Amino acid sequence: MKNNHHFTRRQFVKTTAAGAIAASQIAPTYAFNIHGSSQSGKLAALGGTPVRSNKKWPEWPYKDQNVLDEITKTTESGIWCRIQSKNGTVPTFEKKYAEMIGVKRCVAVGSGTQALHTSVEALGLGPGDEIITSPYTDPGTISAILSARALPVLADIDRLSFQIDPDDVERRITPNTKAIMPVHMCGLPANMERIMQIAKKHNLLVIEDSAQAHFAKYKGQMLGTIGDLGCFSHQSSKVLACGEGGSIVSNNEELMERCYTVQNHGTSKYGRTETIGPKYRMNEFEGAILLGQLPTVMDRHYTRNKNARYLTSKIKDIPGITPQKLYDGTEEGSFYLYTVNYDKKQHNNVDRSKYLKALAAEGINLSPYIKNGLHKEPWVDNILTRNVYKKMYTSQRLKQFKEEMACPNCDIVCDEEMVMLWASGPLLGTQDDMDDIINALGKVYENRDQLDKI
Ligand SMILES: Cc1ncc(COP(=O)(O)O)c(C=O)c1O
Repeated sequence: MKNNHHFTRRQFVKTTAAGAIAASQIAPTYAFNIHGSSQSGKLAALGGTPVRSNKKWPEWPYKDQNVLDEITKTTESGIWCRIQSKNGTVPTFEKKYAEMIGVKRCVAVGSGTQALHTSVEALGLGPGDEIITSPYTDPGTISAILSARALPVLADIDRLSFQIDPDDVERRITPNTKAIMPVHMCGLPANMERIMQIAKKHNLLVIEDSAQAHFAKYKGQMLGTIGDLGCFSHQSSKVLACGEGGSIVSNNEELMERCYTVQNHGTSKYGRTETIGPKYRMNEFEGAILLGQLPTVMDRHYTRNKNARYLTSKIKDIPGITPQKLYDGTEEGSFYLYTVNYDKKQHNNVDRSKYLKALAAEGINLSPYIKNGLHKEPWVDNILTRNVYKKMYTSQRLKQFKEEMACPNCDIVCDEEMVMLWASGPLLGTQDDMDDIINALGKVYENRDQLDKI
């Protein structure tokens, strides 16, 4: 965490020409009052003038004429279900998305949760098996493991990256551990180098929960392509969205064939019912919406990355907030979320809730994001009392499972430290929009001695 510098308003000078976004090029890096307007001064929550008012963020979900045309074409074609045609929107999306991600195959399904569950089943994981994942994630991550009646073992996270901590993963391996499911939180990479080393050492499978991480790049590879299987969500809020949708990617063609079969109620492409599986097929309208976005999706990706770099280059020197820690090898993020870690000690010991209230009054709505880590949710006690789990795991293992549930870093991130901008739409904004965020954060820091009056 940074030291508590004594910044004066004079030091919050206007900086940098547009486009000078590399952090190292900018000094001082803090753009407070970048327009020299009356944005500084009294907090809006205490009667001052808000930094941002009467301005809109870019609209989300994204749509354009191409998306609308694809939906119309699908409606008129009468091909509404993916198995009606090999050239329909879903198979075409699968081919194009696989190419963009840099893998041989993609199988599209009805949600990110379904993608993860299909992957767990296709890898043959189930009763008696343990899969290590993060508690700091969407319930869909563990739901995928529970649906296969395997045991989700939660490893704590790093407080500054919000990603699963590889050391804690390694500590939690038992003879029944079969896989690791790292979550690329906020659309930025988990420490995949360490995770893949641990997986190799202990002979474990890796399913990447890349639900938030479309087109994010780590050491030259896109997220989702590093482990055995990678899973994406295309739910409305995500950077490649179709309402509800999901996809699985891999270079392992045989495994992808199994994924296809599992999600097609166990029926292979040859029409034979070969295994156990739910019916999770993506429908052609969802495929149309995704397909319609692909020609321009990378433009949005690069805009988000440019704006994220700009934000970080300025925010990194505001005391008391630390932009999300990135691991070596991080090249691009999806920037589904843009997050910082809040240090209340440097904000006059004021709780995050008042800090967020002050920012909201300035016209910048940030969120504490996930309320509780999944280790604190009632599913834990629910499965411990279920006969099916009692039959599959010894009472000693279930007792230990419950006793070792603590994830203190996750608790502090949830309770005090996470500050999140949902970024799919907002990070498509202009530099002026980004300056509003920076100016609001700076103004609230500068008025930290007033925060307890809110
Ligand atoms: C990290 C993570 N994993 C899994 C999911 C589940 O995806 P879906 O909502 O598409 O089922 C989400 C969705 O938000 C997510 O953020």
